[in-house]
Amino acid sequence: MGSKKVAIVGSGLIGRSWAMLFAGAGYNVHLYDVTQELVENAIKDIEEQLQALATSGLLRGNLNASEQLKLITGTKTLKECVQGALYVQECVPENLELKKKVFAELDALVDDSAIIASSTSCTLPSLFSENMKHRQNVIVAHPVNPPFYVPLVELVPAPWTSPEVAIKARQIMEELGQKPVSLSREIPGFALNRIQYAILNECWYLAQEGILDVADIDSVMSHGLGPRYAFMGPLETAHLNAEGMENYCERYGETIFNVSKTLGPVTRFEGANLQKVNQQLVDQVPLENLQEKRAWRNNCLSSLAQLKQNIDKKKTD
Ligand SMILES: NC(=O)c1ccc[n+]([C@@H]2O[C@H](COP(=O)([O-])OP(=O)(O)OC[C@H]3O[C@@H](n4cnc5c(N)ncnc54)[C@H](O)[C@@H]3O)[C@@H](O)[C@H]2O)c1
Ligand SMILES: *[C@@H]1O[C@H](CO)[C@@H](O)[C@H](O)[C@H]1NC(C)=O
Ligand SMILES: *[C@@H]1O[C@H](CO)[C@@H](O)[C@H](O)[C@H]1NC(C)=O
Repeated sequence: MGSKKVAIVGSGLIGRSWAMLFAGAGYNVHLYDVTQELVENAIKDIEEQLQALATSGLLRGNLNASEQLKLITGTKTLKECVQGALYVQECVPENLELKKKVFAELDALVDDSAIIASSTSCTLPSLFSENMKHRQNVIVAHPVNPPFYVPLVELVPAPWTSPEVAIKARQIMEELGQKPVSLSREIPGFALNRIQYAILNECWYLAQEGILDVADIDSVMSHGLGPRYAFMGPLETAHLNAEGMENYCERYGETIFNVSKTLGPVTRFEGANLQKVNQQLVDQVPLENLQEKRAWRNNCLSSLAQLKQNIDKKKTD
């Protein structure tokens, strides 16, 4: 199975998730971090997570949890980790100098045909791959946390990424059971954060103007747009909300244009409005309860993932 070797560089939150996703698809996963202890801790945590996924019926693929765990090997050196791998997923902290350093190291060790993917949330791939010998093999594969329950992966090429690499990376993501989207070129924020920040910006404005309080602003998403968007994006929603998109724009285009001109301006998230928003959030969820609330959210996402899986199964039956 040497031909199905993948390398995960960095064994934190995201590296562990990738390791599980690849093991679920039957890959031989090699995991590296700066110390042996970090790798060992990561593998222990992966074992627990795989058991929990098996219990909730969300384990991917045809292998059981212990079979998947056996596919994950800790490594002592970066070389041992990436040599002979057909795909490398970089998962080190978000810091441009560190990304540059790690990609330069990878460049010297990887096979010529290996895809070298970065998990970066916001760094353009051109910024850390320009001077690499293997730069045509570099692409961003940006997951969403927690990747097991939120399957989107944004694939973002650098200007020199070969089209074949972009296509192959997409095929691999599909094979893992993730949902890849392929950007045609790099752009700040990729797609997810551009959309997320547009929403955040308007939420900020509504709070600043005192139109709604924080809890009610968040309700607009969690009880209004969110449930809909869990199954269908805004464009298809529009298509369905009239007799097709052209009809939707005939009916609502001018309203949308007029309202959009009144949206809040781009602003920095600081000052008096930050104090106001933060105070309401801390009253709602005190900082010491964040961990508990995260666990609750992950549970909700797990239930939603199960629901979506069942709906997909019915569709194909
Ligand atoms: N956490 C998220 O929600 C999230 C979501 C999507 C993408 N990402 C991106 O994924 C990447 C990793 O994030 P994370 O949350 O897993 O961080 P993390 O801090 O949990 O893990 C990073 C790991 O990298 C290791 N590391 C540091 N230097 C290294 C080196 N030179 N070689 C190998 N390993 C090294 C650290 O020891 C640590 O274990 C970042 O680029 C981040 O932006 C994170
Ligand atoms: C997983 O599969 C292995 C090998 O096929 C088997 O020995 C083991 O009992 C299985 N474990 C569980 C929990 O089903
Ligand atoms: C949009 O704004 C224009 C100019 O103010 C106005 O004439 C028009 O009636 C508005 N249309 C709608 C649908 O709100």
